[in-house]
Amino acid sequence: MCGIVGYIGSGDPKKVILEGLKTLEYRGYDSAGVAILDGNKFKRIRAEGKLSILKEKLESEIFSGHIGIGHTRWATHGKPSERNAHPHSVKGVSIVHNGIIENYADLKESLKDLGTEFLSDTDSELVAHLISAEIDSGKDLFTSVLAILPRLSGAFSILAVSTDQPDEMVAFKNGPPLILGPAKDEIIVASDVQAIIKYTKDVIYLDDFEIAHIVGSKYKIFDKEGKIIAKKIVHIDWSPEQVEKQGYRHFMLKEIFEQPRAVAAAIAPHVDLNHHTVQLSRLGLGGTGVEDLESLNLIKDYQNTVEKLKNVNRIFIVACGTSYYAAMVGKYVIERMAGVPVEVDIASEFRYRNVVIPKDSLFVTISQSGETADTLAALRLVKEMGVPCLSICNVKRSTIDREAHGHLYMNAGAEIGVASTKAFVCTLSLLNILALNIGKIKETISSSEEQKWVREMLSVPSQMEIVLAFDKFFAEASHTLKKFRGFLYMGRGVNYPIALEGALKLKELAYMHAEGYASGEMKHGPLALIDESMCIVMLAPSDELYEKTVSNLEEAKARGGEIISIGTGENTKLRQISEHYLPLPSAAWFVNPILEVIPLQLLAYHMADALGHDVDQPRNLAKSVTVE
Ligand code: AGP
Repeated sequence: MCGIVGYIGSGDPKKVILEGLKTLEYRGYDSAGVAILDGNKFKRIRAEGKLSILKEKLESEIFSGHIGIGHTRWATHGKPSERNAHPHSVKGVSIVHNGIIENYADLKESLKDLGTEFLSDTDSELVAHLISAEIDSGKDLFTSVLAILPRLSGAFSILAVSTDQPDEMVAFKNGPPLILGPAKDEIIVASDVQAIIKYTKDVIYLDDFEIAHIVGSKYKIFDKEGKIIAKKIVHIDWSPEQVEKQGYRHFMLKEIFEQPRAVAAAIAPHVDLNHHTVQLSRLGLGGTGVEDLESLNLIKDYQNTVEKLKNVNRIFIVACGTSYYAAMVGKYVIERMAGVPVEVDIASEFRYRNVVIPKDSLFVTISQSGETADTLAALRLVKEMGVPCLSICNVKRSTIDREAHGHLYMNAGAEIGVASTKAFVCTLSLLNILALNIGKIKETISSSEEQKWVREMLSVPSQMEIVLAFDKFFAEASHTLKKFRGFLYMGRGVNYPIALEGALKLKELAYMHAEGYASGEMKHGPLALIDESMCIVMLAPSDELYEKTVSNLEEAKARGGEIISIGTGENTKLRQISEHYLPLPSAAWFVNPILEVIPLQLLAYHMADALGHDVDQPRNLAKSVTVE
């Protein structure tokens, strides 16, 4: 959940680290700090709050050295404060840490018994004490890190420097990502490629239990026993511009507007534009994991994948947050198109219940970041059982992507806003494609249906462009809508998870009470909530459940709620019942969720903006949840 950047080279560490941390601020933003060599000491400067506060503090600082580490924090142990901010330093050792040291309390107690004084409430400071003690006993930095690792449990990544070896950095990964960017005459280490791509697009992903020993501009990578290992250099195929706002006020707004292009990029690899047919491309289910990806024999893989999908009798989809709501939509679509029963689960629940996975099941994880701790744990659990695992990820070569057997990519480009938008619509599009493909393989859909539905999918980007025009409406309406006490989002069938997603967006961005409900459940409790202070957002597209949805809307209206309804095309009935009616272009039932979510994203975005909240970095949250 935190962001790490390290720099060694001939350039200016302050500049590289600050710029890198800026791109990683999505990972945590409650405090930040750096330790940069100045003379023969690492000078440490930290600040509570956003990175901009640290930046101000560093304005007049000049460091004579060319090595340093930096960190942007999302608090787990110890509240956000300067004393808990990283780096943590003990004597000449400074460290930054991402993740959780689970056995820190016992270790801390035993060090306290020996007279060690702790200056923070974190689990991280302990690491600096342990390394420092090893150095005191005569070891160098690298051997000291190697020596302490077996004593630590949990999922964590660490980057350490020491005044004793002022041209060395040691990086260790077990869990949260850590990537090396060896550029010309310099090396950058970071939690995400975003902090590196400005300097090099050729990077090395550390795997769990690997240690990088960097000396000057040279590096070696070791396994946990200290044996040197050879690592592949991976070329990143996106540009630094993708992590800039490009004229938009916020990343979130930019990402909302990028959605038509993102959906086109998500589906493009899997559809034949000439024949309007679908074929999952580079899925990899026939392979054994990411190491095969480069050399994957696509024809053989496709045959194996088809074989596997033909025999699939049950699908499990597991994810968290917005990705979980996408999974819920997937259940409706796959069951209806392909006739395969689908179970969806929140990853943090799935991993701790006694899951029963029948033979011939397919396990699917959805994760934008590919690093979500609970989703990763669920994947590992199921992989152990020998079940084929397919990941739907945005971040290529993230841990989940690398560990799954098969891979579908959202192709959304970098998503920086903490609130997920374009990754969600790309996932919905991929789930449609997956459902279509399974239906085709299992012969639950005819070839004319396949062609018709592929055409529907191909027209989604241009339909989305039309829906984006609601931006103007919400920019104005948000100023009056913000007076409501609460928001109730409702929908039926495939639209129900979109109601949940709309409510989540409003909660995380506007910090307002919002609930998502299946419309049919309204009479079973939530109706009691409705009065003039409640705003009802009803998803009422023209589908087979439309009439029932309208009845629910009438009931809500009768209780005094303010109604925003979202339907298909001009609709006098909906216009008459609602204070605000937003017409969507006419689309297939499985396309409606992709269109409906756009006004809900815009509503949450403009409400947060009108309330003066930080849209891209909502309080208490982080983009990548690498801890339980
Ligand atoms: C969405 O707006 C949230 N910030 C959050 O629910 C997110 O979707 C969830 O943490 C899962 O993340 P992932 O897709 O990267 O696994």
